[in-house]
Amino acid sequence: MANIIVIGMQWGDEGKGKIVDLLTEFADVVVRFQGGNNAGHTVVVGEETIILHLVPSGALHSQKKCLIGNGVVVDPQVLLEDIDDLKKRGYFKNDNQLLISEDAHLILPYHRRMDVARERMKGEGKIGTTGRGIGPAYEDKVGRVGIRVGDLLDEKIFREKLEANLSMRNACLETCLHDKGFGLEAILKEYVGYARKLKKYVGNTSIFIDRQMKQGGHILFEGAQGTHLDVDHGTYPFVTSSNTVAGGACTGAGVGPTKITEVIGVSKAYTTRVGGGPFPTELKDKVGERIRERGREFGATTGRPRRCGWLDIPLLRDAIRLNGITGIALTKIDVLSEFDPIKICTSYKYRGERLEEVPSQVKVLQECEPVYEEIQGWKTELRNTREFDDLPPRAREYVRYVEELTNVEVIIVSVGERREETVLRRNPFLHGPRLL
Ligand code: IMP
Repeated sequence: MANIIVIGMQWGDEGKGKIVDLLTEFADVVVRFQGGNNAGHTVVVGEETIILHLVPSGALHSQKKCLIGNGVVVDPQVLLEDIDDLKKRGYFKNDNQLLISEDAHLILPYHRRMDVARERMKGEGKIGTTGRGIGPAYEDKVGRVGIRVGDLLDEKIFREKLEANLSMRNACLETCLHDKGFGLEAILKEYVGYARKLKKYVGNTSIFIDRQMKQGGHILFEGAQGTHLDVDHGTYPFVTSSNTVAGGACTGAGVGPTKITEVIGVSKAYTTRVGGGPFPTELKDKVGERIRERGREFGATTGRPRRCGWLDIPLLRDAIRLNGITGIALTKIDVLSEFDPIKICTSYKYRGERLEEVPSQVKVLQECEPVYEEIQGWKTELRNTREFDDLPPRAREYVRYVEELTNVEVIIVSVGERREETVLRRNPFLHGPRLL
């Protein structure tokens, strides 16, 4: 039995979709456990590029069960669009493939409007959210007024809860945020329509996972966003509203920590960030622009250009500690093929002091200057490489340097966006972690 969590080690967009899609072949069940449609997981199969916002990336394998756990916030409209898109492309023929937790919370239209209106009011100090209503939906959950998928299936309960919430939310929208409120009947009609379509997918995901585990099934937990967007451990307040770290898989899927066998961290060979917040290795020059162009660094959900910079080892060290990562998947190394030299940030300098780890205060991190080591570039395209030993010596050196600096083995090197453009050094479903 192998139950593996895949986590982003940076600020999201590390290429988790591709890694999950690759590993799904060896799993029986793939589970999303936090976040919502702020995520956009891109998978390239043949000539097709598929972006999934809520359905786990495992959906492209017809025999695999896909779960949306209780920790996810579900926008039913987006979920149905994901499903429709998959069906149109010839995937997801069997509705049994998807199971949505009855305890997952719903995103409602007022969450989206509040998200956008609050950002507008913040002006310069805005977080740069995706505007999908993620924060307000999680606020309702923690505030114990949230409406869950299970409530949606009972029209009477849904109406009662919606009515109670709407009076509060409309007052807030109109009085504090100077925006428009919503009428009850319109939302009710829209959501009852969603309920009809979603009903067949809803159930208890925690019990399902437990049964699968007891039968020896392999479970893959698909993280969304990245470690440094975690609401507790990230660059607060420039974070998302869920626990993106590996611990979130246990609460967000209803699984005990003793059941998890390994945590794989996904990191780009460089760093990107969307939205506001500190980013010590950010490049605001031509090199940054070239990385953005070569890596096609534009948000999969919002289309916003991503901020780009060199690889930041303190970020990865933190991610390893916070998640218990035992293997790294290093993605988009092919994007670096054009650069010489290539820089790696090995520590920060803060007011004359060396820092090996990420300071928790955003103000301190904002003042940190990266300390770089330079590596010679390999200046060779890597897309056709499938074996580690066939990588150019300097690319191998880059990978080994990452291992040396983090003390964790790099088990996958991704050399292109397609499934096959991958160097697999260890399959975590077949072989356990190796200490360096
Ligand atoms: P929210 O999750 O929409 O509230 O946005 C909060 C912050 O997280 C913003 O900086 C977003 O750009 C960032 N964010 C949320 N989801 C993702 C993602 O999937 N990839 C990268 N950044 C994200």
